Amino acid sequence: MNSTKRLFRMFFIFLVLPLCISLDTITPNQPIRDDKVVLVSSRNVFALGFFSPGNSSKRYIGVWYNNVPNRRVVWVANRDNPINDTSSGLLAIHEDGGLNIYGKDSNIPIWSANITLSWPNNTMAKLFDTGNLVLLDNNNGSQRVLWQSSDHPSDTVLRHMKLGLDRRSGLNRFLTSWKSQDDPGTGNCTYGVNPNGFPQLILYKGTTLLWRFAIGCLGGLNHNSLLSYVNNENEVSIMYNEADEVTGAVVEESGVVRRSTWTDDQWTTLRFTPWE
Ligand SMILES: *[C@@H]1O[C@H](CO)[C@@H](O)[C@H](O)[C@H]1NC(C)=O
Ligand SMILES: *[C@@H]1O[C@H](CO)[C@@H](O)[C@H](O)[C@H]1NC(C)=O
Ligand SMILES: *[C@@H]1O[C@H](CO)[C@@H](O)[C@H](O)[C@H]1NC(C)=O
Ligand SMILES: *[C@@H]1O[C@H](CO)[C@@H](O)[C@H](O)[C@H]1NC(C)=O
Ligand SMILES: *[C@@H]1O[C@H](CO)[C@@H](O)[C@H](O)[C@H]1NC(C)=O
Ligand SMILES: *[C@@H]1O[C@H](CO)[C@@H](O)[C@H](O)[C@H]1NC(C)=O
Repeated sequence: MNSTKRLFRMFFIFLVLPLCISLDTITPNQPIRDDKVVLVSSRNVFALGFFSPGNSSKRYIGVWYNNVPNRRVVWVANRDNPINDTSSGLLAIHEDGGLNIYGKDSNIPIWSANITLSWPNNTMAKLFDTGNLVLLDNNNGSQRVLWQSSDHPSDTVLRHMKLGLDRRSGLNRFLTSWKSQDDPGTGNCTYGVNPNGFPQLILYKGTTLLWRFAIGCLGGLNHNSLLSYVNNENEVSIMYNEADEVTGAVVEESGVVRRSTWTDDQWTTLRFTPWE
């Protein structure tokens, strides 16, 4: 009996291990269920899974710093389409190759990475140590990026992530505040790059311009920011290049952008925008 059990366990381990190796990827056979699996990037910097913000009981898929206590969420997928119960959530690769979130209804997704595939055969989603969730097409050994979360930011810009306009695709990446600490839904404050005319960093609350800054002047600026700026025929964008991995700039519903870093076991605010 015992040896049968042991044999079974060994068999089980051999059977299951190969599926568990890629803890940073979602494959068609390996979805994420609420509270069962969390993705962790390869060097453990970021994690992805279901969570409930603040006092809310609703469920969202988010990405957060893996090694920082009091989970700080940096990206939310279904921010305006929460799941109302704590058991049904599923993040999965659909048979059409897309990346979907399902609630109670396992046929109609409540959220989907917005892509169309011409031949959907071999996609997977991978969480990188930059905090970027990337949907990849694995075609004959080469990987093509189909969609990435950094093109659709929530309220936080992470190190090495771009804000601004990709002139080739027309995609403009900007931050939008959460509604409140309990609700990551699209709030009223936006922060990004206005590509028209002389490019500016702009912070809006609703339709009210709170702050703007001509980013062409960034060269001469040193606000401890290591902010880089590109303006050419392909794009007009900014990027934060801090040395510290756990750092980010967040647009808050109150109308400030707070850039902070995790050092010596606490959050340190590096600066606020608009600055005094
Ligand atoms: C959660 O509720 C408690 C008690 O009502 C309150 O003190 C706290 O500020 C709330 N937290 C958030 C994030 O809303
Ligand atoms: C959650 O509840 C809200 C309000 O009752 C509803 O509008 C929404 O469709 C529900 N979401 C899901 C995924 O069932
Ligand atoms: C998906 O993409 C189409 C075309 O680019 C756009 O019109 C639509 O609003 C997008 N949907 C979402 C949910 O982002
Ligand atoms: C994916 O589909 C295309 C078109 O049907 C095919 O050429 C390609 O070899 C397929 N790739 C894989 C990995 O199956
Ligand atoms: C797949 O890759 C192999 C080796 O690089 C190549 O010989 C083959 O033609 C490729 N197949 C397709 C469908 O591209
Ligand atoms: C956003 O602005 C509108 C109009 O001023 C207001 O009604 C709403 O409460 C604001 N939302 C938040 C989350 O503050």
